[in-house]
Amino acid sequence: MRPVPADMHIHSERSADTAAVSQLHTAAFADDGLVSRLVDALKAAPAALAPLSFVATVGGTVAGHVLLTASRLDAPARLVDVYVLSPLGVLPRFQRRGVGTALIRHALAAAAAKGLAPLVFLEGDPAYYGGRGFERADARGFRAPSLRIPPLAFQVATMPSYEPWMTGTLVYSDPFWAHDCVGLRSPLLLRVPRCPHPPHLLRAGPTLHTLLISHSNLICRLGLEHLPPRTPAASASNTTPSS
Ligand SMILES: CC(C)(COP(=O)(O)OP(=O)(O)OC[C@H]1O[C@@H](n2cnc3c(N)ncnc32)[C@H](O)[C@@H]1OP(=O)(O)O)[C@@H](O)C(=O)NCCC(=O)NCCS
Repeated sequence: MRPVPADMHIHSERSADTAAVSQLHTAAFADDGLVSRLVDALKAAPAALAPLSFVATVGGTVAGHVLLTASRLDAPARLVDVYVLSPLGVLPRFQRRGVGTALIRHALAAAAAKGLAPLVFLEGDPAYYGGRGFERADARGFRAPSLRIPPLAFQVATMPSYEPWMTGTLVYSDPFWAHDCVGLRSPLLLRVPRCPHPPHLLRAGPTLHTLLISHSNLICRLGLEHLPPRTPAASASNTTPSS
């Protein structure tokens, strides 16, 4: 990774940044604007917690953006307001220079400082997010909002206000569902080994560790395209939801 640009700055998103943020996500995710529409919907949705939206500029150019918005954890004692980090995008020409890492660090520090949400969840590549404050959420007693989220990709960062009773199922806010931006769908889903037991997943080897899963329903460029096609037998077993 090249050094972080000396002229990189991070600030809370301003109205003047919005168009650039939109274009940034369309370029970063190489999509038809779905992630950009998701961002708009997430920011507009009524929510218990105000969104945290941060922009990284390099030499005055909007180079990266990260958004934290409210969802809920269905804990045994009560519902808990939590954040979901999604999306994170960096303009292709600024990637692999530490911009994404700096945005994650900034967003987590801001969430911790606010003290309003004890947890920050995301779907993403554990090889990327694992070294940046996140860990497997299922290992901490959390259940993903969909069986279509590979267990390794379901991750959480705990904030200072987290307490051990806060376990349960993450319930995504409606924009994720309205934009069909939750987990994977076939045929990508069929290419991810189905592993009901987390330890087995951990032994699945480098294949899963190269996944970067976005809320745009894409396996981003960290490698699913390099996964071998599943055998018919394995694919068939993958169609049965795990319990
Ligand atoms: C994923 C993303 C946000 C990372 O931002 P970034 O600024 O490029 O990441 P950083 O510079 O902080 O970290 C770089 C490290 O991330 C990993 N990485 C990032 N992009 C990668 C890529 N295209 N291929 C492989 N590894 C990549 C590598 O480990 C890399 O370290 P290295 O260069 O030493 O190998 C950015 O690549 C992006 O916007 N991708 C498209 C959208 C996306 O997938 N968003 C995340 C959805 S969960």
